Amino acid sequence: MALKKYLSIFSPASKQQRNENFENYWRFSQLNSGKLFEEDKDLSKKRTRLRYFQENPVRLRRPLADPDAFYRNYVEMQDDPASFDRMTLMLTGMYKFARHEWNGINGAWDFAPDMENSYTLQNKISRVHLAEEFCHIRLFHEMLITCGLDRVKWVPLGPMKKKMYEQFPKLPNYLINSPAFVTELMGVTFYCHLDRLIDELFAEEPEVCKRLKELLDEITIDEVAHVGQRRNFIGPLGMIVSKALVKPFFTLFFKDIPEIEQLFDVDQMIKDGVAFDFNTLPDKMIARTWIPSYCIA
Ligand SMILES: [Fe+2]
Ligand SMILES: [Fe+2]
Repeated sequence: MALKKYLSIFSPASKQQRNENFENYWRFSQLNSGKLFEEDKDLSKKRTRLRYFQENPVRLRRPLADPDAFYRNYVEMQDDPASFDRMTLMLTGMYKFARHEWNGINGAWDFAPDMENSYTLQNKISRVHLAEEFCHIRLFHEMLITCGLDRVKWVPLGPMKKKMYEQFPKLPNYLINSPAFVTELMGVTFYCHLDRLIDELFAEEPEVCKRLKELLDEITIDEVAHVGQRRNFIGPLGMIVSKALVKPFFTLFFKDIPEIEQLFDVDQMIKDGVAFDFNTLPDKMIARTWIPSYCIA
């Protein structure tokens, strides 16, 4: 068995180590994302990368079996999820996952201080982090366009859930930190499973398969860095709470998306979340992401 290079994300870290890691993350983040365009919720390097994908489009050779099934079910499931093809089901499920993210970041963006009014390193890091999340939605959008779905709208969640996402960022930090960390961990776990599903479902569309995975990689690389960054906010007690939150949090969240249990093994995602230690990520991803120093063996 290969030697483990990295340690569990739940590894202990002292206050001083965490402070040093914030400094280090901030340097990484500026290199990784470039200049923040506050007005556009965008970042220079991410914009350039997206433009490359848009200017070099790849499309399905054989169009989706039933695009109408996608448009009918992507916001709310209308049909029996077992009744339509797995490719379409994957795309509606992916949209629904991203839609939650989009609602969450909209609530947080309006509440958090902008860069000009961010006086602490943590605030600055959080502002760029949110802008990166908006870039992810653009990448998801491009993934859908790659599959011929060019009429997708980003739709707000219902009033209850919308309110919840708006109130969440207003809670004190000690309540926010663990759920925010577990959310990032859930993102990475889901994207790793999604990556494998893309391989399986798009085997007969090699160009699209490659492009979808490239687009998803851009997202996952940021999300892996976010996992470490959000972990860095948390002290010893919070880490115990975080570990205990993985199962209920993943279970509750995925229950809300009917496609997930059709396509994914939620129990395995929970296990992967609890066991997360960076070692299963491909080298090309490790080379571009950020890992806290206390998770390096
Ligand atoms: Fe994200
Ligand atoms: Fe994230």
